[in-house]
Amino acid sequence: MIYIGSDHAGYRLKREIIAFLESMGLPYTEYGCTDGSSFDYPNAAEDTCKALLEGEKDDFAILVCGTGIGISIAANKIKGIRAALVTDAFTAEMAKLHNNANCICMGERVTGAGVAISAVKKYMETDFEGGRHERRVNQIMALE
Ligand code: RB5
Repeated sequence: MIYIGSDHAGYRLKREIIAFLESMGLPYTEYGCTDGSSFDYPNAAEDTCKALLEGEKDDFAILVCGTGIGISIAANKIKGIRAALVTDAFTAEMAKLHNNANCICMGERVTGAGVAISAVKKYMETDFEGGRHERRVNQIMALE
């Protein structure tokens, strides 16, 4: 399951990503802004990430706000969330490969829909490398 949420400033990019998920037949649940009206990004992050934490092991979340910054900061306050602000396929790949991020965040005012969708695809097709990165990820989680 993919949990996808946004505030109002990420609403249009969220719709583009949802259209991609639907075209691929991928299951998703939507949180946050659903009609373009004002929705505070901390609440969108909280609703989306709490649902993710109740899901299955390989589930992940996608969060979108205007820049991706606020919603990633909020998501990272939630125990169990490793949210990565990504801007393209490379940063999305590294977010999974090295950081085992369970949440990728993007900014509608930063990243166009085509690049955002390529980032989602790359994240989904990449596996966590483990090894020395597992030690470091465990160190991150020990900071909680
Ligand atoms: C909303 O105007 C904007 O501040 C928000 O979407 C985000 O960019 C915050 O980091």
